[in-house]
Amino acid sequence: MINLIVGGILSLPGLLLHVVTAPVIALLSAPAMIFLVYSKPKQAKKALSTDPSLKRVIVTGGSSGIGKSIAVAAAKQGIAEVVIIARNKERLEEAKKEITQANSSIVVKALSVDVERPESLAEAAKEIFTKDPTPPKTTHLFCCAGAAYPQYFQDIPPEEFSKAVHTNQLGSIFTAQAFVPLMTSGSVTFCSSGAGQIGVFGLASYSPTKFALRGYAECLHIELCESPIYVQVAYPPDTDTPGFAEENKTKPYETKKISEMAGLAKPEDIGGSMLKEALKENPPFNVYFGLEGWLVTTLTCGFQPVSTVLDAMAQVSVMSVTRWISLFVLNDWYNMIRTYKRGKANNVSSKHD
Ligand SMILES: NC(=O)c1ccc[n+]([C@@H]2O[C@H](COP(=O)([O-])OP(=O)(O)OC[C@H]3O[C@@H](n4cnc5c(N)ncnc54)[C@H](OP(=O)(O)O)[C@@H]3O)[C@@H](O)[C@H]2O)c1
Ligand SMILES: *[C@@H]1O[C@H](CO)[C@@H](O)[C@H](O)[C@H]1NC(C)=O
Ligand SMILES: *[C@@H]1O[C@H](CO)[C@@H](O)[C@H](O)[C@H]1NC(C)=O
Ligand SMILES: *[C@@H]1O[C@H](CO)[C@@H](O)[C@H](O)[C@H]1NC(C)=O
Repeated sequence: MINLIVGGILSLPGLLLHVVTAPVIALLSAPAMIFLVYSKPKQAKKALSTDPSLKRVIVTGGSSGIGKSIAVAAAKQGIAEVVIIARNKERLEEAKKEITQANSSIVVKALSVDVERPESLAEAAKEIFTKDPTPPKTTHLFCCAGAAYPQYFQDIPPEEFSKAVHTNQLGSIFTAQAFVPLMTSGSVTFCSSGAGQIGVFGLASYSPTKFALRGYAECLHIELCESPIYVQVAYPPDTDTPGFAEENKTKPYETKKISEMAGLAKPEDIGGSMLKEALKENPPFNVYFGLEGWLVTTLTCGFQPVSTVLDAMAQVSVMSVTRWISLFVLNDWYNMIRTYKRGKANNVSSKHD
């Protein structure tokens, strides 16, 4: 606590000056940002259709949690065709029922596919795209299949590291490879995580695979910049899903403490926002949630594409302020970890007495 107070007092002069100059920089940057944001490649400026009857939504991991919420939200909006993909057939059928209940006049398909297998994905893609009798639809693809195994670095079995790379990272890439070539227009959303922007205590097997998605998305984005297929990365916070409940079982104390600071979101809210961002005429590259999401996304934007003038203005004017804030958060984590470690050490020594 004392570090935070001393740090706060020492930061005041510089931070205040930043807060005063940030709006000036933002305003002065506006003309340049307007020019840079709007001089994107011609074809990419082509707005996507907003007519739900001409749209298809495909969601991997669509049988549970965030993915299922995206599919249900799509049905509620009257998207003509909703396809969910996962491995377990029973869970798929249950989810299919729930989606159909949300709107019985749309087409709902449930396909049992392991996203770690490119040949199964290719079959699914053929099934979806060639058996469609109507003209091509704008397709919005969501790569949500994924899982985490929270544990102290040293206690994570090697196979959990492999599994995370295969499911979260390669599974998402294979999905995009199978579907994007058949899409005429639309969007691809990679479901990263807040832990794909920050290396989180206890998530050593998971965080890096979510960081990787951002790298793939940046590459794919620049390759598709002249096509009407938009690439997105979403960074959901902790969300109350079956997957989250499972992760809770092995989560170290410190990981729980860090995630408690940010609260627990509802899957309907996260899935609903992800769908909304993808269905925009000009879907943004980054999909974040709340003020914290905005702060971290602004801080970590690096060389990422920028979607709106407002984002560009914010990035060039307040990135250093967000860095300042991040140092306080980091210090807070160090304090929490130190206190817990001391408590454990005291427990051990009191047992020896
Ligand atoms: N919940 C959170 O707090 C949170 C926060 C940030 C990011 N995320 C990310 O959001 C995504 C969804 O998370 P969730 O919490 O909603 O998870 P969840 O409830 O556990 O659902 C995971 C879904 O992925 C499917 N899946 C897993 N491995 C698969 C594979 N190899 N092939 C095909 N499908 C597979 C599962 O079905 P089957 O097992 O039947 O295949 C299930 O439908 C994940 O990528 C997760 O990392 C979650
Ligand atoms: C269901 O989907 C249809 C067809 O796309 C749409 O016209 C209708 O508004 C949707 N109904 C509900 C209740 O969302
Ligand atoms: C996670 O575990 C903690 C106990 O360690 C419990 O209080 C909390 O309700 C659990 N959360 C979920 C979503 O299962
Ligand atoms: C110390 O031991 C007590 C009682 O055994 C336990 O409740 C507490 O969680 C322990 N603290 C730590 C930091 O391990």
